[in-house]
Amino acid sequence: VIHNPQGKYRVISTKNLVGNLWLEILQKYECRVEVCTDRGVLSNEEIVGAIGSKCDGVLGQLTEKWDDSLFNVLKRAGGKVFSNVAVGYDNVDVPAATKNGIVVGNTPGVLTEATAEMAVSLVYAAARRVVEADQFMRAGLYKIWLPDLFLGKLLTGKTVGIIGAGRIGSTVGLMLARGNKMNLIYYDKYQNKQFEAKLEAYREYLSHTGESTIEWRRADSMEEVIRDSDVLSLHPNLDKTTFHLMNSERLQMMKKDAMLINCARGPVVDEVALVEHCRENPQFYAGLDVFEDEPLMKPGLKDLPNVVVVPHIASATVWTRRGMSALAAMNVAAVINDLPPWGSPNV
Ligand code: DGY
Repeated sequence: VIHNPQGKYRVISTKNLVGNLWLEILQKYECRVEVCTDRGVLSNEEIVGAIGSKCDGVLGQLTEKWDDSLFNVLKRAGGKVFSNVAVGYDNVDVPAATKNGIVVGNTPGVLTEATAEMAVSLVYAAARRVVEADQFMRAGLYKIWLPDLFLGKLLTGKTVGIIGAGRIGSTVGLMLARGNKMNLIYYDKYQNKQFEAKLEAYREYLSHTGESTIEWRRADSMEEVIRDSDVLSLHPNLDKTTFHLMNSERLQMMKKDAMLINCARGPVVDEVALVEHCRENPQFYAGLDVFEDEPLMKPGLKDLPNVVVVPHIASATVWTRRGMSALAAMNVAAVINDLPPWGSPNV
């Protein structure tokens, strides 16, 4: 589909995006926009074909692998910018883009709350066995109220651990600390002072109300968080240092009845080790939005009752996806017009 065919700059979007604002932004900046497909993942060959001999900018997806050869093709077509319609950019070889003089865009900020809300939803769903109970109801198995039917875990007063306390991780931490009076430990190589100030303010407030208060701390090591958490939520970027961060050894360090939440990237968790761990520890729960080999799950995962899975939809609210589409368009429109991008790992 072609929008604004008279536009001065040629921009392609490898997929159709959400809402109209992204198109309006690109049209205002004199871009002709070609949408490659509604569904499905384009191969690199198809992307090369879509870039053609002249292309000023591209809006792409996290399901594509943007490597040196694609950036080289884009450069030769006169391209200046590629924007992922995502905050994560592990699918993008950023140094290769830089080498080819291409600005990479991403969409930080707009999806923070939506993603955090999904992480917290997975916590509740796992803690209260919502999916198992739903399946039980639908199967017509609810015959009598019983005192021990679907006993779950109470979160209030327990400890949430956050690995990677950036925008999303700290928001998850605050939602659970404030909403459920959970104690909090976090590990991040950077101190998040704003997060700490908010936690401290809440702890102070509670200490004056006569209610039980909360404790929080920044841990010296990741292992400390892994060992002490009842709920462990993962929010690092995926890179060489975080690949299989939760491996079998670290899973063994967790409390036997703890819960692991992953709304970051699948390969941060060794999924085969997780399947094994959940099988051996029926009191352990996992809530997963992302998978190592998306859209596939490792064998055995789907058969485990103590795992809740959703298809990488943490940022999937209408408002958020419209916002991500618009921010990616702003990145592309801005760079084409020699302005700074909204979000970028290489500017
Ligand atoms: C991202 O933005 O990186 C998510 O994984 C999709 O919202």
